[in-house]
Amino acid sequence: MIKAADISEQTLPRHIVVVMDGNGRWANKRLLPRAAGHKAGVNATRSIVENCASHKIEALTIFAFSSENWNRPQAEVKSLMSLFVSTITAEVKKLHKKNVCVKFIGDKTRFSDKLQNSINTSELLTENNTGLQLNIAANYGGRWDIMQASRKLYCDLQKTNADIDSIDEDALDKYLSLSHLAAPDLFIRTGGEQRISNFLIWQLAYTELYFVDTLWPDFSDDDFSEALQWYAGRQRRFGKTGQQIAEQGA
Ligand code: IPE
Ligand code: IPE
Ligand code: MG
Repeated sequence: MIKAADISEQTLPRHIVVVMDGNGRWANKRLLPRAAGHKAGVNATRSIVENCASHKIEALTIFAFSSENWNRPQAEVKSLMSLFVSTITAEVKKLHKKNVCVKFIGDKTRFSDKLQNSINTSELLTENNTGLQLNIAANYGGRWDIMQASRKLYCDLQKTNADIDSIDEDALDKYLSLSHLAAPDLFIRTGGEQRISNFLIWQLAYTELYFVDTLWPDFSDDDFSEALQWYAGRQRRFGKTGQQIAEQGA
């Protein structure tokens, strides 16, 4: 197999987003509690962060907990929350040493004070880092994102008495999560489902979508290389014709 290292820099994505799905099924297959699947998933998360950092990918955004995941059994939600606290506490110093800048996106207000504290501490510690931008989507939903952006835009427009015609796509985009980053180039979803599940619905407009059956805890370095290789073979047209793109590249 061609290793990611062999893929030329021009064909590497700048921004990768990942729906890390399949932890529960991974555990079920082993007759383990679902929480064990989530714990095993942390190892795969650590690996993809390291891989992105070593390939000098600019940004990685991972879906850790959706706004809809509160609807899971209370015991599972509770175990996920304590896994978040312990993982952030255990990993943040290592991430800092690797020059990773950590940010959380989503509505943090529903989290316990303890979790909000560890989120704030990790963001503060790493805020000036210039390496990989790691965004962790927690209590995140794409619809929530568009809604919170609209509210902020509305407030600012009222303050300045601005005209309705000043609302264009860029105006709203400024208030959305991740507006400071390039739009995602590559979306990876493990676990076999082919859906977005209310992830970055606005930001994914022109992202290349890659779905793989592998369950998240089994997602290996080779699986990551395969995703990069698949991405390298895409022709991104953004509405133009294939010929126009080929001529631009020539
Ligand atoms: C993804 O794995 C992790 C979270 C949603 C927190 P799942 O828990 O959804 O795993 P499956 O889809 O049930 O296998
Ligand atoms: C999406 O996975 C959310 C995360 C990976 C955190 P889900 O497993 O919750 O998605 P659905 O409900 O199957 O669409
Ligand atoms: Mg799932």
